[in-house]
Amino acid sequence: MKDLIFEQCHRHFNDIVAIRRDIHQHPELGFDVERTAGIAADALDALGMSVRTGIGKTGVVGDLEVSGATKRIALRADMDALPIQEQTDVPYKSKIDGKAHLCGHDAHTAMLIGTARILSHLKSQLKANIRFIFQPCEEAFPGGAPAMIEDGALDDVDEIYGIHVFPLYPVGQYATCIGPMLAQSDTFEITITGRGGHAAFPHLTVDPIMISAQFVNAAQSIVSRNVDPLDSAVVSITQFHGGDAKNVIPPYVTLGGTVRTLDKDVQKRVRTQLQNLLSGIANAHDATYDFAYQEGCPVTYNHEPCVDTVVSSAQTLVGEENVLFPIPPILGGEDFACYSQKIPACFVMVGAGNEQKGIVNMCHHPQFDIDETSMIYGMALTVGLALTS
Ligand code: NI
Repeated sequence: MKDLIFEQCHRHFNDIVAIRRDIHQHPELGFDVERTAGIAADALDALGMSVRTGIGKTGVVGDLEVSGATKRIALRADMDALPIQEQTDVPYKSKIDGKAHLCGHDAHTAMLIGTARILSHLKSQLKANIRFIFQPCEEAFPGGAPAMIEDGALDDVDEIYGIHVFPLYPVGQYATCIGPMLAQSDTFEITITGRGGHAAFPHLTVDPIMISAQFVNAAQSIVSRNVDPLDSAVVSITQFHGGDAKNVIPPYVTLGGTVRTLDKDVQKRVRTQLQNLLSGIANAHDATYDFAYQEGCPVTYNHEPCVDTVVSSAQTLVGEENVLFPIPPILGGEDFACYSQKIPACFVMVGAGNEQKGIVNMCHHPQFDIDETSMIYGMALTVGLALTS
C-alpha cells in the first residue's frame, strides 16, 4: 500500500507543483477566490465527479461516489491568501502587490486536487465515499467554514480531515494530537472614558491613561491568578491609544487585544474576569467604559477515532519516528474548528521546512515558503487515510 501511494504521489507531483505555483502567482483574498475555485472545480469536473460551486459563497464541493459505500469522509483545503507583501525571490512569486500565499493555502488546494486525481484512479480500492471541500476565507473572521456548513458541505459526511503545511517541522514528518489542537481565538475592544483637562490640574480630571494602565497591569493577573496553572490561556493587550498633546489629559483611551483558550470554561472565566477588572477599576476612579468582546473561531478539536486513522496511516508512510504524536496544542486559530465542532475530525500538520534550503520561516512571515516535496507527503497522508477509511 505504501509503495503504491508514494508511486502515485510522485507520478502527479510535477503537475501539482505547477498548479501550486500558478495559484501562488495569482493570490486571492477572503471570499474573492473565484479564479482559484475555478481551478479546483475544473479539476474535479475533469475527473467526472459531481461538483457543486458557489457553496459558502465561492467554495467548491466534489463527491467521489463509491458503489456500496455506506460511509462518507471529507477532505478539506482552504484557498485564500493573505493581505501581505511577499518578500521572496522565488520565480513563482506573487504577481499581485499586497497579496500573497504566505500560509500555504495554495499548496493545500493543489494537494487536494492531486489527492482527488489519485483517489479517482484508485476508486476500486475505496470503501468510503470521499467529499472534497475547497473553502474560501480561512484567514478572516468569521471564516468560510461556517458559510460552507450553512450551504450543506457537511451534509451526509461522517468524518472530516484537514492538513496544514508547517515549516517548523521538516519534510517527511507529520504532527497531531487528540483533543484540543488549536485555540479559540477571541478579540476585544475597550474604551475607558474619563474627563479630559489641563495636565497641570489633574485633580480636576478623570485620567483615562492612568486608569487604562492599571487595567492593563491587572489583566495580566488573569492568567496567573484566575486560570488553573495546568490549563492554558493567553491575554494580550495589543492596542493602547489615547491623547494628542503633552500638556492635555485626554478624555478617553481605547484598548484592543486577543484572548486564546483551549477550553470553554477557561474562556468564560477569562472573559468574565476582564469585565470584572474593567468595571472595578473604572468605578474606583469615576470613569465609564465600553467593553466589546468578539468570540472568534472555536477550538479545533481532534476526535480520537479520526486521530487513530491519521496516526496509523502516517506511521505506515513514514515510520513511527517521523510522526510527532501527541504534540502539545498550538494557540493559533483555524476555522477548521467549525467543522470539528460538528462532526468527528482530525487536523494534521505536515512538515514543510528544510533548513538546508533555508526554508524555515513560519506561516504569515513575508518570506514564508514551503519545500514543495512536502506536497508528496500531504497527498500521501490524505490518500492513505481515505484508502483505510
Ligand atoms: Ni493557514
